[in-house]
Formats: sequence, C-alpha cells, structure tokens
Amino acid sequence: MTESKTIAVIPGDGIGNEVVPAAREVLAAVEPDFEFVEGEAGDAVKEDTGTALPKETRELAATADATLFGAAGETAADVILPLRQIVGSFANVRPVRAYPGVEAPNPETDLVFVRENTEGVYAGHEAEIAPGVTTLTRVVTESASREIARYGFEYAAERDLSVTVAHKANVMRETDGLFLETAQAVGSEYDVPSDDALMDALAMHLVQRPADYDVVICPNLAGDMLSDLAAGLVGGLGLLPSANIGPERALFEPVHGTAPDIAGDGVANPSAAMLSAAMLLEYFDYDEAGQRVRSAVESTLEAGPHTPDLGGGATTSDVTAAVLERL
Ligand code: NAI
Ligand code: MG
Repeated sequence: MTESKTIAVIPGDGIGNEVVPAAREVLAAVEPDFEFVEGEAGDAVKEDTGTALPKETRELAATADATLFGAAGETAADVILPLRQIVGSFANVRPVRAYPGVEAPNPETDLVFVRENTEGVYAGHEAEIAPGVTTLTRVVTESASREIARYGFEYAAERDLSVTVAHKANVMRETDGLFLETAQAVGSEYDVPSDDALMDALAMHLVQRPADYDVVICPNLAGDMLSDLAAGLVGGLGLLPSANIGPERALFEPVHGTAPDIAGDGVANPSAAMLSAAMLLEYFDYDEAGQRVRSAVESTLEAGPHTPDLGGGATTSDVTAAVLERL
C-alpha cells in the first residue's frame, strides 16, 4: 500500500445522505489507508448559509486526492458543475451494465460512455438576444476533443474493447466535424477497432443491439442523454456509477439524483454509490480492492437482498450489511 489518501465525502441532499455513508463504509472496509473528510453541499446548506457550495467544501474538493459525491437537489447545477470544474474533470465515465439477478429490459448490455465533460452545449453560453429570442453557443475545441478521445481509446486499449465515436457531424459540421476528425486522428494511433455513429441512429441501435457497443465516446449533451437511455436497458438508476476524471484528481458519484420520492425512508439502493466507490479504488490502481467491492455488490444483486426499486423489501442498511458481509 502507498501513502494515505484523502477522500472528500460530500453526501449532499436527499438519498445522497443514505447511499454515500453506505459507500464510505464499504471503502473503509477494503482500504484502511483512506482518510475521509466530510463536506457540505446542496439545498440544505444553501438554506442555512445562503450558498450551495461553501468555500470550505470547494477547498476540500480542490485538495483531496478524490471526492465521493452523492447528489444535490434543486441546487444540483450550482454544486456538481463547479465541483467537476474544481477537480478539472474532462472525462465523465459512465459504465452501464446489466447484472444477473436484476430484471433488465436488455440483459446483454455492457458498455461504457466516455463523455466530454467541459464544453459542447454545456459551456454556459446562453443568451436572450431579444424578447422572445434566445440563443446557445456550442463550443467544441480541438484540445478538449483530443483529451476525451485519448481517454476513451486508452480505456478501450487497456481492456481490449472497441470504440464508437458518437456525433452529428452531418448537421453540426464545424463543431462535431472537429470532434469527429480529432477523435479519428487519435484513434489512428491505437490498435483498437473503432467506428463512428450519428447520435440519433445510435440511440435506436443502443436499444436494439446494445451488445454491439463497448466504449462510446460522446460530446457532452449526447453523452448525458445516451447514458440515461442506456440506464433504461439495465433496470434503472440505482445501479449506475460514474467517474469525473481530471488530470490530478477525480470525483465519483452515482448517476442518480436525490430521489425526493423515497428520501428519508431508508430504502435507497446503495449499489450505484458503492460501484462508484469501486471506480474510485480502481482510479488509485487498487484494482484488487476495487474488484472485491464489485464482486460483493454483484453477488448481493444476484442473491439479494433487494431494495424496493429492484422489487425487493430490503432497506439500504440491509443491503449494506449484506455487501459488507461478502467483503
Ligand atoms: P432521481 O435520480 O433523483 O430520481 C429518479 C427516479 O429514480 C426516482 O423515482 C427515484 O426514486 C429513483 N431512484 C434514483 N436513485 C435511486 C436509488 N439509488 N435507489 C432507488 N431509487 C432510486 O432524478 P430526479 O427525480 O429527476 O431528480 C431529483 C432531484 O435530484 C432534482 O432536484 C435534481 O435536480 C437532482 N439531481 C441531482 C443530480 C446530481 O446532483 N448529480 C443528478 C440528477 C438529479
Ligand atoms: Mg443526466
């Protein structure tokens, strides 16, 4: 084991306060060399202090080796977008898998979205240029396109996977033209099978034949939408982890939000947060510990107990106890 790592733990609002502590317990069980520091963010802290992302929390995320985040409610955009910026995250990695024991519309699904995380239509250049007329400027740079393509092709090369580059370069000729051209140039340096796909047709093919895809490199908005679409193929949001990777630090979070409909009931599915913790371990190259967490979550998904979103009657703490026991 190397030197101790500092992990910022930011549960946020709603079920973030239920699933993040569960994931933290799992991390503590496999990696005793982590020092956890808690930070506040979201609706509740905004109500108390007037800001959704207090200065102390920003500093914590900026200096910790990694951050484990839950979800924020109405203030989500004021919390997660700056947090991603603070860790310098250029890649949003979202694996989508079906698991034995969980009913999935398409049990063959096993792919990962590598989503550009800094620009595109989420660059924040929106304006009302006249009453009743609004515009949005889509930003695509060669450097960000190269970075995301490099990350996606490296990811595929390390795991013997293929790459699909999603785009709409036939219509957005300048922006997605640059994105596609840059990704193809990067791809030519790798011995990785690759192709490209128009994002609208890809949405249909993902539903019909998800098994045809491994790594899908996407512009920002396309990655956001296609990964949620794929979530629907595997039985829901309670299963989907994600990583926001930067050059020196990274933030890990379940894809889901605060789930106000079940928050406080103690029945949130902690799997997505725990699988995000497994990605955190793998980020530090603690591959064996990451695999142990993954296996414990998977065998719990297979054998139960299950929370209500998966058709069971178990609580978050029942599932957490079952995962900890398997560890
Ligand atoms: P959501 O993901 O919170 O909930 C959608 C549905 O999935 C709900 O029925 C919920 O009960 C269920 N669900 C989600 N995670 C679950 C889990 N772990 N276990 C069991 N069931 C689960 O999305 P929604 O309803 O669109 O948003 C609710 C709030 O969360 C909003 O205020 C939104 O702004 C925020 N949000 C925050 C995000 C973030 O901080 N990264 C991401 C998405 C939403
Ligand atoms: Mg989304």
